[in-house]
Amino acid sequence: MASSKSDYWNQYYARPATNARPVPSQFAVFVAGELGGPHRVIEFGCGTGRDSLFFASYGHQVTAIDSSTTAIEHGQALASELGEKVDFIQADVNTPDLPSLITEAGDRTAIYARFFVHAITEEEQGTFLDSAAALTKSGDVMAVEYRTIRDQSGTKETDSHYRRFVNPADFDHAAAQRGFRVQYAVEGFGFAKYKHDDAYVARRLLVRD
Ligand SMILES: C[S@@+](CC[C@H](N)C(=O)[O-])C[C@H]1O[C@@H](n2cnc3c(N)ncnc32)[C@H](O)[C@@H]1O
Repeated sequence: MASSKSDYWNQYYARPATNARPVPSQFAVFVAGELGGPHRVIEFGCGTGRDSLFFASYGHQVTAIDSSTTAIEHGQALASELGEKVDFIQADVNTPDLPSLITEAGDRTAIYARFFVHAITEEEQGTFLDSAAALTKSGDVMAVEYRTIRDQSGTKETDSHYRRFVNPADFDHAAAQRGFRVQYAVEGFGFAKYKHDDAYVARRLLVRD
């Protein structure tokens, strides 16, 4: 295993870049359908930005954040190759005053995080939710998908790395403390299947009070 979380992700994304348009996650397609009109979409833990590029291609104003330098470089190269406008920001979720680095809001904001919540510590989850609250106003939304406590024993396609199997009730409680109310909740297999890894995930759409 890499010596730290950030070493792991930098090595993971150090694969040769491709200029092919990436297939978005099933979750991104679901969320795009729920958003309706154009939003300022802010993705946390974007990796190489496959979902951010997808949201941009549907007319959303997208900011994509990740701590991995290699992931952000690949994402920027891909956006330029594909002619998509995504504002990539290389930053750790712990960066002080992270919200101030993000472009001002249009009308409506959607915070988006897929497979990010389980890749960060519980303390970092608190920081992420604080940033989400700072970046949103009443009626804005947050969409998250993450591995749950029921996923601990399942087959994984990627190498062993930091994963925190999340109790959805704990996440909902932490989100509620920042003013996010669960609007839609579902859990199970089949939402994020990737080869032999059929993760038991939680999906949440939350609305800011
Ligand atoms: C499992 S990947 C998910 C990537 C992408 N969202 C997807 O669904 O394909 C988790 C991502 O979180 C990023 N990450 C982990 N810890 C982070 C932190 N503290 N701050 C910002 N990004 C972080 C990693 O670099 C990695 O790109």
